[in-house]
Amino acid sequence: MQALLADAAARAHRYLADIEARSVAPSPAALAALAAFDTPLPAGPGAPADTLRLLDELGSPATTGMAGPRFFGFVIGGALPAALAANWLATAWDQNAALHRPTPSAAFIEQVALRWLLDILHLPPTCGGAFVTGATVANLTALAAARHSVLARAGWNVEADGLFGAPPITVVVGGEIHPSVSKSLGILGLGRSRVVKIPVDAQGRMIPEKIPVLSGPTIICAQAGNVNTGAIDPLGEICRIAHAAGAWVHVDGAFGLWAAAAPSRAHLAAGISDADSWATDAHKWLNVPYDSGLAFVRDPHALQAAMAITAEYLPTQSEFRNPSDFTPELSRRARGVDIWAALHSLGRSGIAHMIESNCTQARRFADQLAAAGFEILNDVVLNQVLVSFGDAARTQRVIAAIQADGTCWAGITVWQGRTAMRISVSSWRTNEADVDASVAAMIRVARATP
Ligand SMILES: Cc1ncc(COP(=O)(O)O)c(C=O)c1O
Repeated sequence: MQALLADAAARAHRYLADIEARSVAPSPAALAALAAFDTPLPAGPGAPADTLRLLDELGSPATTGMAGPRFFGFVIGGALPAALAANWLATAWDQNAALHRPTPSAAFIEQVALRWLLDILHLPPTCGGAFVTGATVANLTALAAARHSVLARAGWNVEADGLFGAPPITVVVGGEIHPSVSKSLGILGLGRSRVVKIPVDAQGRMIPEKIPVLSGPTIICAQAGNVNTGAIDPLGEICRIAHAAGAWVHVDGAFGLWAAAAPSRAHLAAGISDADSWATDAHKWLNVPYDSGLAFVRDPHALQAAMAITAEYLPTQSEFRNPSDFTPELSRRARGVDIWAALHSLGRSGIAHMIESNCTQARRFADQLAAAGFEILNDVVLNQVLVSFGDAARTQRVIAAIQADGTCWAGITVWQGRTAMRISVSSWRTNEADVDASVAAMIRVARATP
């Protein structure tokens, strides 16, 4: 075991040391070599060292350099050193971190991490929290609490009786709702399409004046951090309108919630603490390893009512917080450990610095690309930049050529009818030299692409 784990650590270290110099996209040869995995199931046991060697020799070269400093696709954080190391240790613990009594260490560390998260994100300290797989499940979890609460107030127990015959719930969303929120609404029986869609402005922000008169059980789904522009809905105004009508406000803040942790960006998220529930990712801007998301709910009882279960064989009775009382999962890894480690290692100022650096780097991208004559389609307020290289076909060709060049990686999107390259700066590893090298490659490739 010792030699095997030392070998794994050495291979992982080599992978991360090489990542700055290698092509961000895997080479066609590395992709072709994956076919060597496709053997018949081994007839019996082999040496674990051979299993690891095969994984590293075939698997590592065919990865995309998401852990490196010049991956700007989707919204992808790297893994902070302390978070990665903590993740390894917690994996060795192999705790089923559902309940406090059998896994006191994992459960207690998670509870401390929750307190720190609420502090750094300026959310009410008494919120309930769920450590889940990602923002999709965090949205689902928080919206289940919302569904519980608005129906309980109408005299209906949705966990016991389901939605058949329940009072109808009005769901209000912005025109730029992320599909993971729509999916959550679908899973919860509230409908992906059975929503009132509110028009948005040029940056994708919900226009609060367009919210209709609200009555009866109502949930408003707002957004902090549009996946294309980074824009944050006017949350204070949305909460004011909603709460005057007794509606619940949920904020999908997969990455944008972290604006609240950075003094220079916090004004963008003004009013965020007035909402009733929030979803965010830790594997995005907190830079912990995949997968890791968070749901926070102002009324912890609503979250617990939606999620907690009991069974004769489960030691659920505890004076301490049981993690799985707040999550869709029962069996679960000790996700709070990586998060605790990230927060402990960076502290308040380190987190603020990471968020602010990425925002400054996004601005640097936008300024240099604009100076080179390319059009920036969004107001660069956070960590997202949208670039056009001309018409849709040319922009597509340039993006494909940038990805193939391998200096950096950025993806494609369509923003309000315009095809664009999305640059999302979300990694602790990225520095100004990475931005400059990436911009130089983008300009060189764009000028060489017809
Ligand atoms: C605004 C927003 N909400 C939700 C999600 C879904 O997050 P995850 O992929 O972690 O489930 C994303 C992902 O990019 C996002 O940007």
